[in-house]
Amino acid sequence: MIEKEQESFINWDFKEAETKQFTHGYHTYPAMMIPQIARRLIYLYGKNAKTLLDPFCGSGTSIVEASLTPQIKEAFGFDLNPLAVLIAKVKTTPLDTAELGRILDKLLVAQGHNGVPDFKNIEFWFKPQVTERLATLKTAINKIKNKDVKDFFLVAFSETVRNVSNTRNGEFKLYRMAEKSLEKHNPWVFKEFEKIVLKNIHGMKEYNKARHKTKTTATLGSSMLDLPLKPQSINLIVTSPPYGDSRTTVAYGQFSRLALQWLDYEDVASLDNRLMGGKASKELEVKINSPTLKSIIKEIAEKDEKRAREVLSFYDDFDQCVDQLNKAMAKDGYVCFVVGNRTVKGVNIPTDKIMAEMFKAKADYEHITTHLRNIPNKRMPSLNSPTNKVGEKVTTMCNEFIFVLRKN
Ligand SMILES: C[S@@+](CC[C@H](N)C(=O)[O-])C[C@H]1O[C@@H](n2cnc3c(N)ncnc32)[C@H](O)[C@@H]1O
Repeated sequence: MIEKEQESFINWDFKEAETKQFTHGYHTYPAMMIPQIARRLIYLYGKNAKTLLDPFCGSGTSIVEASLTPQIKEAFGFDLNPLAVLIAKVKTTPLDTAELGRILDKLLVAQGHNGVPDFKNIEFWFKPQVTERLATLKTAINKIKNKDVKDFFLVAFSETVRNVSNTRNGEFKLYRMAEKSLEKHNPWVFKEFEKIVLKNIHGMKEYNKARHKTKTTATLGSSMLDLPLKPQSINLIVTSPPYGDSRTTVAYGQFSRLALQWLDYEDVASLDNRLMGGKASKELEVKINSPTLKSIIKEIAEKDEKRAREVLSFYDDFDQCVDQLNKAMAKDGYVCFVVGNRTVKGVNIPTDKIMAEMFKAKADYEHITTHLRNIPNKRMPSLNSPTNKVGEKVTTMCNEFIFVLRKN
C-alpha cells in the first residue's frame, strides 16, 4: 500500500495514458472516466474490497476495471441512461471473438430491411442513403438470437449511427454540420461499422485474457430511488457523478438521443429532464446539512434566484442518492468520487466539498484525502458550452477533485 503521506504527491493527470485498452474504447460517452483513475483508486482503497458499486456508471469504466481486479467478486453499475447501461453491459460481457468475426462477415453482406424508424427529423440528421444502410444493418443485427452477441453488435451500431449522422464531430450536444461540410458528407455506413466492430473484437480479445471471475451487472435505474442492493454490502464506490443538471453541464440525453431512437427506446427526449437536477426546485430553502452549500446558494440567489433554484434542485436530488449509497455502504468501506467544480453566475461551486459534507451529515464518514487532477487535454470543458451557443468552446473546468471518504 502506498503510504498516506505519499499519496498526495502522486500525479493523477495521466497525460500519456492509453485510455482505450481492453473494452474501454468501445463507444464514446460524455465525461468518461480515465480507466487509470478507476484502476488506481481500486488499487489504493480496494485492497480488501469484495464488492464495488458505481451508481452513475455511464459507459462502465469502473465496473470494467473491477472485473480486471482479482479480489473483487461482484461489481454493480447503475445508470438512468439506457444507452450507457447497454455499453457498460457489453463492455463487461466476455464473448467468443471467433464467433463475433463470423457473424460480422454475414452482417456485412446483409441486404434489405424491414422499415426505417419513424422518429421526428430523421431526414434532418441522416442522409437518405445513410438511413437505408443503417436500416439494413439494424434488421440483420436484430435477427441474431444470442442476446449478448446481439448487444455487442448494437453497441457498434450505435457508435456507427453517431459517426455517420449529420451531427458535428466532437460535440456532445446535437448540432448539425454546416451546409458546406454536409455537401461533402457521404459516409460509408458498412465500412464504418466494420471498422468499429474489428476494433471492438480486438478489445474483447485483450479483455478475455485479463478478465477475472468478477460478476458484473449494469442496471437501468436511478440512484435516487431504492437501489436493489443488500444493506451494508458495498466495500468500495468508485464513480464520477454528474456535477449539475444536464442542460447547463453535460448533455447525456442529447448525446444519446439519435442512437436511442435508432435502437427503438422510448421516452428518449425526456431523458435529460429525468437525470439529476432535471427539474428546478420551487423553493430556495436549503434543507441539506451542508454549510458550504447553504452559503453558495445564498450567494447565487443574490445574483439570480432562478439559477440558485436550479443548483439547489441538483443537490436535493443528489441528497437522495447519498441516502441510498449510505444504506448500501459497509463499515470500513471507501467512497471515491471524481468531480469537477463549476461556476454559476461567477460563483465557484466546490462540488467536492459539498458532496463530502453531505455524506458526513448521514453517518460517520472520515475524509481520507482529496487528490487533485489537472485535466491535460481539456476535452470535457471544451465540449461543454455553458452559454449554449453553438460551437462555443469555454473552459469551465481545468481541475478534477477525487475525494475519498471512509465509513467508520
Ligand atoms: C460523468 S457520467 C459517468 C461516466 C462514467 N464514469 C464513464 O466512464 O463513462 C455521469 C452519469 O450519471 C448518470 N446519471 C445522472 N443522473 C442519474 C441518476 N439519478 N441515477 C443514475 N444515473 C444518473 C448520467 O446518465 C451519466 O451517465
